[in-house]
Order: sequence, then C-alpha cells, then structure tokens
Amino acid sequence: MANKGAFYLFLIGTLSSLVLFLGLTWDTHRQVDALTNAEKLDDQVVAGKRVWEKKNCNNCHTILGFGVYYAPDLTRVYQRIGENGIRLVVMEPERVYADSFRKMPNLGLTEQEVADLTAFLEWTGNIDNNEWPPQDRPGKRAERRLSAGFTLSAGAAAFQTNCMNCHAIGGAGGSIGPAFDNLGDKYRAEEIFRYSRDPRSIDPDSLMMPVTGVAEEDLRAIGGFLAGQKGGGNGN
Ligand code: HEC
Ligand code: HEC
Repeated sequence: MANKGAFYLFLIGTLSSLVLFLGLTWDTHRQVDALTNAEKLDDQVVAGKRVWEKKNCNNCHTILGFGVYYAPDLTRVYQRIGENGIRLVVMEPERVYADSFRKMPNLGLTEQEVADLTAFLEWTGNIDNNEWPPQDRPGKRAERRLSAGFTLSAGAAAFQTNCMNCHAIGGAGGSIGPAFDNLGDKYRAEEIFRYSRDPRSIDPDSLMMPVTGVAEEDLRAIGGFLAGQKGGGNGN
C-alpha cells in the first residue's frame, strides 16, 4: 500500500473508532441514573459507602471490579449471602473463616456501620452492570458440584438454592457455616427443620440467623436431605 493509502486508513480508522467510543460513552452516561436506581441512593447508602472507604474494604476486595484481587468481588454479595451473611462475616470473621487459608480481619464495626454497609451493598447489588465483573450467583458455588450429571431430589435442590452459599457438602459450597457431610449423625430431619427456622431453639449460642422467605415444604425437604448425610456418605 502506498504511504498515502496507509495514512488515510489510519486516519479513518482512528476517527471512526473515536466517534464510536464517544457515542457509546455518551449513551452509557445517559442511562446511568436508570442503571444504578439513582432514586434509591439515600443517606444510608451514602453512609455505607463512607464506612467502606473509612475501613478500606478495597484493600482486599473489589467492587464493580475496582480494588484489590485478594478477596471476593462484593458487587453482588448481598444477593449471594444476604443481610445475615454480611453481618456474620463482618462481625465475626475470625469465627466464620477459622478454617480458611486466607483471612479477613475484624475491623471493629459498630451495629450502625454494619447496617449502613449492608444498605450500600444492597444498592450496589442492584446496579445493572451487564453482569460485569462476573459473579457467583446464589447457589452457583453449589451447582458446580452437586448437580453434575444428576437429577437432584427436591431437598437437595432446595438446599442448593437456600443454604449452600454458606454450607458445603462434599467440598462444594460456602464456608460461612459448617460443612454438612455428617449432619445426619448429629441431628434428625425435624431438628434440622427447626434449626433453619429458629437456630437458637436447637443451639442457644448459634450464630446463624433464622432462614426467612423459604416455604415450609422446602425447609422440611432440606431437613430430610441433610439428615441423610451420614458418615461422609452422599445421600443425593
Ligand atoms: C485484609 C483483607 C480484607 C479486608 C481489609 C476486608 N476483607 Fe472481607 N474478606 C477477606 C477475605 C480473604 C475473604 C474471604 C475468605 C474466604 O473465603 O476464605 C473476605 C470475605 C468477605 C465477605 C464474604 C464474601 C462472599 O462472597 O462470601 C464479605 C461480605 C466481606 N468480606 C466484607 C468486607 C467488608 C465490608 C470489608 C470492609 C469493612 C472487608 N470485607 C474488608 C479479606 C478482607
Ligand atoms: C448466611 C449464611 C447461612 C445460611 C444461608 C444458612 N446457614 Fe446454617 N449456619 C450458618 C452458620 C454461621 C452456622 C454456625 C452457627 C454456630 O455454630 O454458631 C450455621 C449452622 C447451621 C446448623 C447447625 C450445624 C451444626 O453442626 O450444629 C444447621 C443445622 C444449619 N445451619 C442449617 C441450615 C439450613 C438448613 C440452611 C438453609 C435452609 C442454612 N443453614 C442456611 C450460616 C448459614
């Protein structure tokens, strides 16, 4: 190609990319209020963001992809482990992650700070970010292993959706609560059902918050499924 041809190719290529880039940037900015639910950005959300900054959560975590890649991205953590999960992790990380190879420090948050932070994480979790950065959906950690090639029983499926972001079986699942490989040696189905509704009725010192918003039928099915987990066996 002649020099002149190369020059025009460069010029046209650069200019058209620039126009496209500016156009898309403008288009995104036009939609920001809708994508971020700006009307829900209230004082508590702002206070939570301030806690996030004051405590430097970004030193280890990313949010919307920004921050440090030591610990999980927290963009959708509200959807993943809920208000109770966030409270447990932030208030008692030494207990929640006692067996983990990586540690989260106890940053000494007050009740008010946790409530504000939760509002901030809930708001962030509802931003329409075109699923970027990729997140673990609720139950996703569990699906990888539990359902590989099998049709799950109702109890296993409900466990996967409602409990596995905190509890694991066969090495799959979350580590916020204890693993359940041998839970059937400790509790009967009825006790597991009651524990999920009201943990302190079974263990007065329990850190787990009552599970809400799950049908009784599903909780009973989960109790049956978990009571079948004995001596490391797989009661799918
Ligand atoms: C020194 C590093 C560090 C700092 C600072 C830190 N965390 Fe963490 N956090 C971690 C690690 C590591 C984990 C995951 C531990 C594991 O999975 O074994 C974690 C996990 C979490 C989780 C659970 C994530 C999930 O997907 O289950 C939440 C919620 C969380 N942190 C919130 C916070 C908040 C809020 C702050 C600031 C107040 C904060 N963290 C500050 C290291 C940190
Ligand atoms: C937000 C995280 C979280 C979710 C979700 C969760 N749990 Fe828990 N669970 C915990 C924690 C933390 C403990 C440990 C409590 C303690 O020992 O203080 C626990 C403990 C338990 C125990 C007692 C285990 C033992 O060895 O004594 C049972 C039973 C239990 N959970 C059942 C369930 C069921 C069933 C579900 C789903 C319907 C569920 N949990 C969902 C966090 C969670």
